[in-house]
Amino acid sequence: MKIHGRTYRSVWLDEDGWAVRILDQTLLPWRVEELRLETAEQAARAIVTMQTRGAPLIGAVAAYGVALAMRSRPEALAEAVAMLGATRPTAVNLRWALERMTARLTPLPPEARAAAAYAEAAAIAEDDVETCRRIGRHGLALLEEIAARKGCVKVLTHCNAGWLATVDYGTALSPIYQAHDAGIAVHVWVDETRPRNQGALLTAFELGAHGVPHAVVADNAGGHLMQRGEVDIVIVGTDRVTRRGDVANKIGTYLKALAAADNGVPFWVAMPHSTLDTRLTDGLAEIPIEERAAEEVTHLTGPDAEGTLRRVQVTAPGSGAANPAFDVTPARLVTGLITERGRCAASEEGLRSLYPERF
Ligand code: MRU
Repeated sequence: MKIHGRTYRSVWLDEDGWAVRILDQTLLPWRVEELRLETAEQAARAIVTMQTRGAPLIGAVAAYGVALAMRSRPEALAEAVAMLGATRPTAVNLRWALERMTARLTPLPPEARAAAAYAEAAAIAEDDVETCRRIGRHGLALLEEIAARKGCVKVLTHCNAGWLATVDYGTALSPIYQAHDAGIAVHVWVDETRPRNQGALLTAFELGAHGVPHAVVADNAGGHLMQRGEVDIVIVGTDRVTRRGDVANKIGTYLKALAAADNGVPFWVAMPHSTLDTRLTDGLAEIPIEERAAEEVTHLTGPDAEGTLRRVQVTAPGSGAANPAFDVTPARLVTGLITERGRCAASEEGLRSLYPERF
């Protein structure tokens, strides 16, 4: 994807061929700054602080974190994997990537591990790019069908499931980019996505850079827009999908699904294979929900009139805050899943039809 005419991925190898580069997403959209990661600890820290984030991207950065660890201490594979795996709990892509790295590296002697780790991390990144491209193709058909009936397609999305949340293209935004590139008129309602505002900051930035018409709306506006017929389809990303199709995603997704069901608006979830967790069934009971710092709710950061980044308090002094970062949308509220293998029902039967080897 392009920023100011330059092509980026969300994670890549530095020119020296070993250090890992990411965009510091805590500074976007105000500043485009790259971070150079030289150790697994730095990679873990970037994930914890959300300088890099989004389910598939967390997995890819963690894989490169293992590669960095293998350069210096190839005998300490399990230690590096445990440290990286403890960074964020909800997105299963992290575990998926680390298990893949472990399976590839464990049989190798220590001196062979670094080269193999870099190759495997690169394969994980390439897999994600191709997966997201295909999700875009399968989602495009949905948008084409709406466009044929209505002209402009009005999509609502929550959080950021674009290229900044993956290695490239995105999941929920990939069909939107492909539709826009195919000349289909698309308008995107972008939920601001409090408390960290990934919609207002990252999704709006991405869509703007790609020239896709959009408007940021307060998180609570979605139901109203649906009641007025202003939303043709909801497409969101996901951090974990259970074997029966329950979907974890950024906090607030469930409320959008409820409003969509009440208004007969199709609610689609874009899911790469790395987000499917067939070990779990009941999403509400079993998916670990990340609880983040209260300061993310009580304070906001943005530029003042001079462009200096300032942190301001937006709650009454002394009030505490709770910050569950994800929620679970039950499968019954999900119209369907858009995957790299096609679309399916959010159910064990639907998932089994596309991923028989995972059951
Ligand atoms: O806390 P974040 O910013 O990592 O949360 C991101 C989301 O919830 C995305 O919607 C999800 O990871 C899907 S990304 C393709």
